[in-house]
Order: sequence, then C-alpha cells, then structure tokens
Amino acid sequence: MDKYTLPRGTQDFLPEDTRKLNYIESILVDAAHLFGFEEIRTPIFEHTPLFTRSVGESSDIVNKEMYTFLDRSNRSITLRPEGTAGVIRAFVENKLYAKSDYPLRLYYNGPVFRYERPQAGRYRQIQQFGYETIGIKSPYMDADIILLAVSSLYMLGIKNYKIVINSIGDKESRNKYKEALKEHFTTHLDTLCEDCKRRYEQNPLRILDCKIDSDKDIVKNAPKIKDYLTEESKEYLNAVISLLKMFEVNFEVDDNLVRGLDYYSDVVFEILSYTKDGKDYGAIGAGGRYDYLVEEIGGPSLPCVGFAFGVDRLRLIMEDYNVFDKLQGEFDCYVMPIGEESLTYAYQVTQYLRGNGLRCDLDFQLRSFRAQFKSAQKKNATFAIIIGSDEVKNQTVTLKNIQTKEQFTVSVNELIEKIDQYFQELVMRQYQENEHGCDCENCDCDHESDGDHECNCHHHHH
Ligand code: HAM
Repeated sequence: MDKYTLPRGTQDFLPEDTRKLNYIESILVDAAHLFGFEEIRTPIFEHTPLFTRSVGESSDIVNKEMYTFLDRSNRSITLRPEGTAGVIRAFVENKLYAKSDYPLRLYYNGPVFRYERPQAGRYRQIQQFGYETIGIKSPYMDADIILLAVSSLYMLGIKNYKIVINSIGDKESRNKYKEALKEHFTTHLDTLCEDCKRRYEQNPLRILDCKIDSDKDIVKNAPKIKDYLTEESKEYLNAVISLLKMFEVNFEVDDNLVRGLDYYSDVVFEILSYTKDGKDYGAIGAGGRYDYLVEEIGGPSLPCVGFAFGVDRLRLIMEDYNVFDKLQGEFDCYVMPIGEESLTYAYQVTQYLRGNGLRCDLDFQLRSFRAQFKSAQKKNATFAIIIGSDEVKNQTVTLKNIQTKEQFTVSVNELIEKIDQYFQELVMRQYQENEHGCDCENCDCDHESDGDHECNCHHHHH
C-alpha cells in the first residue's frame, strides 16, 4: 500500500469538528441529567450471540451489517451495531435489578458500527447518544422519553423536526399480525426481492421496511398493524398520544412504521428532520418500547423504553441551520515575550495564569510582535499579555484587550483581578442585552425592539 486512507464510511474529527461534537454532547448530557439519567459505558465489542438474539436474526443489521470476526481464541466477536443490547446485558450481568429503584435511567454516548453503504449522513462508524429506562410500563414513561428528545432538540436549537410514532403491539397482537401478513404475501412471493423471501419465513414484518420492495403495491396494500392490535395495546398508544398532545409535541402517527430491530414491542417512534432545502439524511433519532428483552437476555421480566440520537446527523442538521456559527474556540490569554530576555519571565507568567484557571498559550519562538499578535487573534484569545524588557525589569505585564485594543500595564498580582473584572463585566453586559435587547429570533444584535415591531436590525419578527 502506498497510500493510507480512511476506511470507507468513517470520519476524522478535527478540532473544528470536535468543537461542534463537544458542544452537542455537553448539551445532551445536560438534558439527560435534567431527566434523571446517569451514564453507563459498556464495551465497544460483545459476543456475537448477544446481537443475533436481541437485534434479531431477521433484521438487516444482523444479516448484512455487522462487523463480526473471530478473535485469537476463536470467539465470535461483534463490534456493537447499536447500544441497547450491551446496556441490557450489563444490567442483567451486574444484577442491577437486585438494587434498582425503578425506573432505572441510563444514558450512553459512543460509536456503533454498521456495514451500510456510505452516503451523505450515513456512516459505518456512527456516534449514538442513547437512553434506556428499565422497569416501568406506563404511558408516562414513553412520553417522558419522547419529551427528553424534544427538550434535547430545543436545547440544541433544532426546530425543524417531526416525530412519527406507531404501535407494533404486544406479542399477541404481533403474532396475529404476522399470520395476516403471511397470508397476504403468500401468493405474491415471486414478486418480492430475495431478502424479502427470507424475511417472509423469518419475520414478515421486516418486509414492510424493505428498501427495495416498500414502494410496491403489494407492500403498500398489506394489512396494517393497527387492525391487529389488542385493546390493551391500542389504549396504551392512545394514552401516550394524549400526553404528547398535552405537551404540544409535533408528532404524527405513521401506520407503516415498524422499526428494523426485533426487540421492540408496542410504542415505537422516529424523529425526522430536514435541511433548509428539504434534504433528508434519514432519522436523527429513534427508539421505542421493548418489554421482553431483559428476560430474553436472562434477567427478570422488566419492561423498558429507550431511544438513541445519531450525533452525526444532529450535527449535519445543526450545520445546515448555522447553529454553530457563533461557536468558536475560546481562549483567554496569549502571552507574547518580546526579546529573548523576556522568555523565562513570560513562561512563569503563563504558568501563573494557568494555575489561576485561565486558558493560556505563549510564543516560544520569539517571533516579531506582529506575528505574535496575529497568533493571538487566530487563537481567538481575549487578551494579549505583552512582556518586553521593561515589564521584566518592573515585574509587570502589559495587558491588551484584543478586540478593543485597550491596554494597561499592571503588576502580576493585579493581573488576575483585572482579567476577572473584565469577564464579570462581560457577563453583566450580556445579561443586560438579553433583558433589553432585540428579541427577534433571527439575530443577536444589540438593538432595542419596540414591542411587536421590527427593530432596525432588519430581521423579521415571527
Ligand atoms: P436505530 O434506529 O437503529 O436505533 O439508530 C438510532 C439512530 O442512529 C438513527 O435514528 C440514526 O440517527 C442513527 N444512525 C443509525 N444508523 C446510522 C448510519 N449508518 N449513519 C448515521 N447515523 C445512523 C437503535 O440503534 C436503537 N438501539 C435505539 C434504541 C434505544 N431503542 C431503544 N433504545
């Protein structure tokens, strides 16, 4: 090989990217904490049967998309294709059910791997931020998970989305439905793709989300799950729907939503979002109830509901809506030694500032004032701290505000106080602007708005 390149479907995250990812993830962590979740971390690889059992023999993920290999002791290992199975395995294996207060609420954030055909918004290493709640079956629990998603999206600044929701019923509903589907498809098997022929035998529900066949009339005219739901499942979905309405969630019931993982039961949902010009990267998040999985993995019978965001897609949508525009690397001070005799003292000042919690860097190369000042601006520092031979002699520094160009010479002892004072004033100013400034959604200008009218920033009020 004469060139080393990224494996297909993977990404390098450079500082300009990690800045955005850290921003997204810190907001998602805050929202998760608001809803009482705590973090769990499980391995990135597991024994293969965990996924064949839970995600399911009939799913595309297990059939075509898993990264499975034998390790050096001939164990079959799989890079996790999703997060739920590992979390539930850890819950059962660590016997958390013996000491849990239900609902147990867990969140996780990490990569999952699927051998899918890469395209815009579709990767082979995917960052999922997911949530699982264990132990409670109540429409409030399902609604709570969806409202967690809604709150998270609000905090992220994503407004353009729609939640689609459906019920795929309990076991009884689904068994009746599967029989009806088999009957429907039995005389038309030859018109379906090869995969669907297998799906027909394994789990005819999977035919409904086949990427090849789903547009065919035979699939469109298939019986609907809603006609096979037990009274209980129907009532359950309706109860969740009433709660969503109560909180004015933007949702729609979609009869065709069945979800591609086998562990689901009753309520399932997906969150769809679009770019400004209508581009669709696929769902930005999805989940549902899974009341049988804990038991199937060897634990007690405990109902669960959860969901996961695709962080990569959240980021694409946020980029499209310019949510990151104001996000910059933040840096407090750039220390500029002028002349070789200043370097040691400048380095001492740098360490002193860092010790006081200020983010600092300095120039070791003794470049010209101009070159150093350029670096300070590039790093987006608030202050340049200039140290020449006078400053060394007097044990002072020259503090220069990079934006206002204001500068004063102060002793090292006064330095921290001066900087703190500046940041406190900045916070006060921002607070006052928020209180009295333009409240138009489109901008963050400092203009005063007069009630319902436009301020002179020329943005329209909604
Ligand atoms: P999922 O629908 O397979 O559900 O994946 C969740 C989200 O991960 C998707 O909505 C999407 O945003 C993102 N995602 C999936 N595949 C890709 C891909 N190839 N490229 C980019 N993003 C992708 C689950 O994995 C369930 N474990 C969710 C869950 C948790 N259900 C209950 N608890």
